[in-house]
Amino acid sequence: AQTLTILGLESSCDDTAAAVVRQAGDARAEILSSVVFGQTELHAAFGGVVPEIAARAHAEKLDVCVADAMAQADVGFGDLDAIAVTAGPGLIGGVLSGVMCAKGLSAATGLPLIGVNHLAGHALTPRLTDGAAWPYLMLLVSGGHCQFLIARGCQDFTRLGGTIDDAPGEAFDKVARILGLPQPGGPSVEAEAAKGDPARFRFPRPLLDREGCDFSFSGLKTAVLRERDRIVAEKGGLTRADRADLCAGFQQAVVDVLAEKTRRAVRIYMAEGPSRPLVAVAGGVSANKAIRARLETVCAAEGASFTAPPLPLCTDNAAMIAYAGLELFRAGVRDGLDLMARPRWPL
Ligand code: KG4
Ligand code: ZN
Repeated sequence: AQTLTILGLESSCDDTAAAVVRQAGDARAEILSSVVFGQTELHAAFGGVVPEIAARAHAEKLDVCVADAMAQADVGFGDLDAIAVTAGPGLIGGVLSGVMCAKGLSAATGLPLIGVNHLAGHALTPRLTDGAAWPYLMLLVSGGHCQFLIARGCQDFTRLGGTIDDAPGEAFDKVARILGLPQPGGPSVEAEAAKGDPARFRFPRPLLDREGCDFSFSGLKTAVLRERDRIVAEKGGLTRADRADLCAGFQQAVVDVLAEKTRRAVRIYMAEGPSRPLVAVAGGVSANKAIRARLETVCAAEGASFTAPPLPLCTDNAAMIAYAGLELFRAGVRDGLDLMARPRWPL
């Protein structure tokens, strides 16, 4: 196979990112650079991502990210084979910023343009990091998404189940807000949980009684809110220990639910008889150490290998978009200047 060098752009949520990925023939792909500008401080005062502020910041930062990524990779446009960009799903203003930037670069350089599904970017990460062979089972858990996929090809995914309401990252973020902890909630709730007693509060394990691989996280967040209000009404406020115990109880419930549903999804996947069974996790929530450890145990018990990306490739980044673009390029995908930004785009 030919050597390919792809520039990737990502701007679908609150990270502006650009990266260059190269694959020489059949060798393992290499990340030549991966630049991420987070917007956490811009949204901190609002307790969540403000779409309008995000879109403006993406528009301002994308060209800087691209210049940095290309300088760090030591490549010029003449060294590139294509430009890949997240074309959805996500906040439309941000996605449009990225798509417009990529179209401008494509028009100016004549390089082919490739629109990438953000979810495919996460879902293909184990191929970038581990050279994972098809088919593997993917648990995609982030701030906006939660689903099991059997990945069979770069455009061939079978969905086994997903959340019927909130995504787990969203639940972590809301619990952080309820307890007055900083955003993004995942890392701050995880840090508190490490100091707490997971057995003090027994939160619900939603949908465990129901068959299948679907999730629900909205009731769990409400249960934490109710418990907080009960303690505040009783004692006038939360102590440090209360906060840590609430976080530990919440995280334990999420871990238990993810573990049981993963066990079910793994059994469905294993029934297909994959020759080298592999389960991979991706998305921001896969940065959580308690979740990673428990999933690894479940997979080992079911006879499957388990892999989780290094932390910078769990959360949003452009290396995964450049890599997905690389696979799509090899599959013959090319987009024109009529490429559309899609706020919704199921895999
Ligand atoms: O994949 P990502 O960067 O963006 C989306 O596509 O959503 O995921 C961000 C989400 C946030 O909700 C954040 O709170 C969560 O991932 N997250 C975590 C951890 N680190 C980030 N959740 C639990 N534990 C963590 N350590
Ligand atoms: Zn994401």
